[in-house]
Amino acid sequence: MHGLDTSKRIDHAQRVYQSFPGANYVLPSDTTERERLALQHRLLKGSFEDRIIACPVTITSEDHILDSGTGSGTWLLDVLSIIPAAAVVHAIDIESRLFPVDDSRIVSRGNVEFLTTTITKLPAEWSGIFTLIHQRLLVAALRAEEWKMAINEMMRTLVPGGWVQLGEVGSWKAGPTTEKHIALVQTLFKAKGLVLDCARYIPDMLRDLGFVHVSVEERTIPLGSWAGDVGVGARNNFIGVFRGMKTPILNAGGLGVVDSEAEFDSLLDGVEMEWNETVGAEIRFYVFSAQKPLSE
Ligand SMILES: C[S@@+](CC[C@H](N)C(=O)[O-])C[C@H]1O[C@@H](n2cnc3c(N)ncnc32)[C@H](O)[C@@H]1O
Repeated sequence: MHGLDTSKRIDHAQRVYQSFPGANYVLPSDTTERERLALQHRLLKGSFEDRIIACPVTITSEDHILDSGTGSGTWLLDVLSIIPAAAVVHAIDIESRLFPVDDSRIVSRGNVEFLTTTITKLPAEWSGIFTLIHQRLLVAALRAEEWKMAINEMMRTLVPGGWVQLGEVGSWKAGPTTEKHIALVQTLFKAKGLVLDCARYIPDMLRDLGFVHVSVEERTIPLGSWAGDVGVGARNNFIGVFRGMKTPILNAGGLGVVDSEAEFDSLLDGVEMEWNETVGAEIRFYVFSAQKPLSE
């Protein structure tokens, strides 16, 4: 078991988190998070030359596609404008609170289906139906064994020759305060059984579980005001991610690094300042593509 000692809980202003049975996701699902996801999508899209689909796949009117861990549907809403209107879009998440069900692009289209479920156990009737499965940023959600379950489910539900596109964050660096904070994040992820460096393992997991044509695109994104608008956007996004981990960290007693909410906030303020002042502060991001073989 991955033990977090909740008896040492530190009192703090708590945000809203999901409560899907058995899930270990450490980020909130509130309005602030919705705004952050929109910023993050703009940042990542820009880092990949505004490409929404990175795989060599053409979506036709007969196709079905899936967005796993859709959140507020940032990727999904953009993909609608580049695929045929008749193509059916499915989106899943363990938390429905951010689903963009009232967005006019979804309502007018009429063939976008949202389902509250986990990527580790998709509906049985979805075998062999998707031409493309997209999943971005489940790093703060899936344990090692769940990554394998998820990729197996992707394999099962793709058509032969279908593609997966996975986006994940890699390492980041700036200076000593950032190193101290990285140690805290590593401790949280270890305690929860999450895989902070999942990007290192994804290509081999995809190959081991039968995918072919596995490829990766890597980008380095600058962090902090020294890097102008992109650095400010990246800073606001990623500091937002880490501030969003306050509740799991303080509920676990601060994990030996912070003793109070004020100390947590002050550490994050220090990280933010360090990013602003450290020329070369950066974070890596990866987009993986892989194909289900055409024949078994
Ligand atoms: C960091 S957000 C990213 C949202 C979206 N993919 C994007 O890039 O804008 C991760 C999302 O994954 C969802 N999630 C976490 N665990 C999941 C699971 N086991 N299956 C499906 N979705 C999950 C969370 O609820 C959250 O909405």
